[in-house]
Amino acid sequence: MTKYLVTGATGQLGQLVLSALSEKNIPTSDIAVLVRREVAAAELKSKGYDVRMGDYSDTDKLVSAFAGIERLLLISGSEVGQRLPQHLNVVTSAKAAGVKFIAYTSLLKARSSKIGLAPEHVGTEEAIAASGLDYTFLRNGWYAENYLMALPQILELGQHFGAAGDAKFAPATRADLADAAAVVLSSEGHEGKTYELAGDDSFTYADYVGTIAELSGKEITYVDMPEAAFKDALTGAGLPEPLAALLSNADAVSKDGWLFDDSKTLSGLIGHPTTPIKDVLKAAMAS
Ligand SMILES: NC(=O)c1ccc[n+]([C@@H]2O[C@H](COP(=O)([O-])OP(=O)(O)OC[C@H]3O[C@@H](n4cnc5c(N)ncnc54)[C@H](OP(=O)(O)O)[C@@H]3O)[C@@H](O)[C@H]2O)c1
Repeated sequence: MTKYLVTGATGQLGQLVLSALSEKNIPTSDIAVLVRREVAAAELKSKGYDVRMGDYSDTDKLVSAFAGIERLLLISGSEVGQRLPQHLNVVTSAKAAGVKFIAYTSLLKARSSKIGLAPEHVGTEEAIAASGLDYTFLRNGWYAENYLMALPQILELGQHFGAAGDAKFAPATRADLADAAAVVLSSEGHEGKTYELAGDDSFTYADYVGTIAELSGKEITYVDMPEAAFKDALTGAGLPEPLAALLSNADAVSKDGWLFDDSKTLSGLIGHPTTPIKDVLKAAMAS
C-alpha cells in the first residue's frame, strides 16, 4: 500500500487536497499529514489521518515525520521570504527519510515569471530536481479566490482599482488546483513533468467588472492606475506595505502574461472544465 504525505494540510488548498484524495478512494489511513499545531493535529487525527508533527524550519523533526512515506506533496509555505530555506529543509529531509517522489506547488511560468514570488519557487524547483528524487512541478496560477478579496469594496464603490491595463488573467479555483495535486500524487506517469496550471477561461479587468455588473445589476467601472499609485491605494486601504508592493507589482507585470496560460493543462489533468470566474463570483455574491 502506497503511503502519501500532504504538507500544508491545515491550509485552504491542503484541506481541498485531502477531500480530493478521499474522492479518489484513498483511505485516510494511507494519508499522512504534516501539521505544526496541536489543535489542528487532534482534528485531523479524529478524521483518521496519520498525523506527523513538524515545521518546515525544523529538519530533525521533518526526517522522522517523513518516515515510511513514498509520495509527498509539498504545498509551498506561507511565510514569504522564509520559504526557500524552509522548502530546502523539506527536500533534504524527504531524501534522508527515503521518500521516492515529491510534487511541489510552484508558480505559473516560474522560470521566466517577473512576479516577485518567482525566485523562491525557482530555488525550490532547482533543489528538488538536484535531489535525485522523482518529482512533478505543479505550477499553480493565481487562485480565482484572490479576485474576491476586493469584491465587497467593488460592489460598494462601483469601481475596481488595479494596475493591469488590459492584461489577461486565467486563474483557477483552489478546488480545481487541489484536484490536480491529488491526481498527480495518487497516480503514476507524472514523474519529471512540469505542469503549467491555469483556468480554461481568461478575462481582463474590464471583462471582470462587466461580469460583476451583470451579476449585481450595478454599474461597475475599472479604474486603471500606475503601479505606484495602486500600491499607495492598497496601503491606504490598510494592506501591509510588502503585500501592497507585491500585489501592485503582480498587476503591473501581468501585462506580459505571467498570470495567463491557455494550455488547458489543468482541465486535462482533472478531466473536466475548470470553474469559470462567473461561477466563483456568483457563489461569493450569494453567500
Ligand atoms: N496561487 C495563489 O494565488 C496563491 C495565493 C496565496 C498563497 N499561495 C501559496 O500556496 C500555498 C497554499 O495556499 P493556501 O491558500 O492553502 O494557503 P494557507 O491557507 O495559508 O495554508 C498554508 C499552509 O501551509 C502551512 N505552513 C506554512 N508555513 C509552514 C511551516 N513553516 N511549517 C509547516 N507548515 C507550514 C500552514 O500551516 P498552519 O495551518 O499551521 O499555518 C497551512 O497549512 C501558500 O502557502 C502559498 O505558498 C498561492
